[in-house]
Amino acid sequence: MSDPAPVTAIVLAAGQGTRMKSAVPKVLHRLCGRPMVHWVVDAAFAAGARDVVVVVGHGREEVEASLAAAFGDRVRTAVQSVQRGTGDAVRCALPAVAADAELVLLLCGDTPLLEADELRALRDATIASGAPVAVLTCDAPDATGYGRMLRDAAGRVVGIREHRDASPEERAIREVNSGVYVARSAFLRDAIDRLSPDNAQGELYVTDVVALAAREATALGFKASTAGSLAGINDRSQLAAAEEVLYGRIADGLRRAGATVRTSARIDAGVVVDPDAVIEHGVVLRGATRVGAGATIDVGSVLTDVEVAAGAMVKPYTVGSGAFIGEKAQIGPFSHLRADSHIEADAHVGNFVETKKTRIRRGAKANHLAYLGDGDVGEGANVGAGTIFCNYDGFRKHRTEIGPGAFIGSDSQLVAPVRIGANAYVATGTTVTRDVPDDALAIARVRQENKEGYASRLRARFKAAKKDG
Ligand code: UD1
Ligand code: CA
Repeated sequence: MSDPAPVTAIVLAAGQGTRMKSAVPKVLHRLCGRPMVHWVVDAAFAAGARDVVVVVGHGREEVEASLAAAFGDRVRTAVQSVQRGTGDAVRCALPAVAADAELVLLLCGDTPLLEADELRALRDATIASGAPVAVLTCDAPDATGYGRMLRDAAGRVVGIREHRDASPEERAIREVNSGVYVARSAFLRDAIDRLSPDNAQGELYVTDVVALAAREATALGFKASTAGSLAGINDRSQLAAAEEVLYGRIADGLRRAGATVRTSARIDAGVVVDPDAVIEHGVVLRGATRVGAGATIDVGSVLTDVEVAAGAMVKPYTVGSGAFIGEKAQIGPFSHLRADSHIEADAHVGNFVETKKTRIRRGAKANHLAYLGDGDVGEGANVGAGTIFCNYDGFRKHRTEIGPGAFIGSDSQLVAPVRIGANAYVATGTTVTRDVPDDALAIARVRQENKEGYASRLRARFKAAKKDG
């Protein structure tokens, strides 16, 4: 069924989340790189909500800024400055619900595992039943802390009892309120005004809306097909468990689309991995990372905001951030590509090579032990082991440019700003302080002298000195 009635979602997120023991509001704690409340908002949109109102209170500015950055004006906020309960939170949101929204989908900001299918099923069941409100329920293995579903002998929902208000008999009930509801908005607006705080906490409970509906019409209790997706996050150990579930879902989605993702890889939400890419064990992919078709990211590599083109090979334990890796390029093992590293197609960057704001052009190679910062390495150039771009004078950064086909001998220092011409040759161990013309050889090192027979005399002298001292 596609969009049978306009739905506005309300997400309750004004609470503090004391049990997280954190300066960060609970709903901004991240799972797979994405703040908790974003997952809930995404699920609401995916389920067909036209717009979303998030009720904010604790950490209001931070929560608002985070939502605005991700969703723009598709998400509005309503402020609940004092937390007087879930019913009061809904009351605060209602003025922001569009007049023509027929249904309201009510969610909590701390249930990041919710799936759109489940929400759509709840909505469709609500519409089909004609009930003014429906509650998503499940049988909890441990119901402690949850509101219990009260049903009459015929199985009809009559109300919800909060754990702290419940009698021992009621506490024995396994069916719990997930905190997800669909309500007809006209009914909800009327019912919210009639709530009263006669409960253990002296709060307005949104759950009492269900009892009201049951008395005056019917309330639907709709059992979820997968209890696991309803879990609420109250502490960091629940956060960790939920994040593992989400990592599993992300990896499975990519596998179904044709990528190989090993079980211990951790791929954040929003990362793109194309078919036939291989993501090996222990790899972490974050941010706006994209991995092209057939590329391999080998064991233990950590890539943040890195674009990897098709067929590239990123060998084990490479660390990259804000970098581009071209088609069939080879990186690692143990390479460090920092911000604005641009490695073109077929280029090689090897072990213990660090790049920053540097372009390594097509087919160029820097295979071992180098620092290449603020530079440009021309097509097919070769940068030997131990080469350093001396880019920093303590105040400013300077550029090093190497022309196409140039050869930089091992253990050379290129003191920037400096330019090495096309097809030039820098002899091993040279400190280059002046530009090198095209096709020239630059050599700057002390001439070697061999003193025949000197080694044994030297050894005898050192031995004697040691005995004396
Ligand atoms: C609530 C339900 C309970 C259900 C459980 C499911 C009520 C009274 N109880 O209990 O039946 O089993 O969820 O997880 O509704 N919030 C506000 N403003 C407030 C109070 C809460 O925005 O004044 C927000 C919180 O930030 C949170 C959500 O509402 O995201 C739920 O509040 P919480 O205090 O966690 O309710 P529970 O005790 O878990
Ligand atoms: Ca809760």
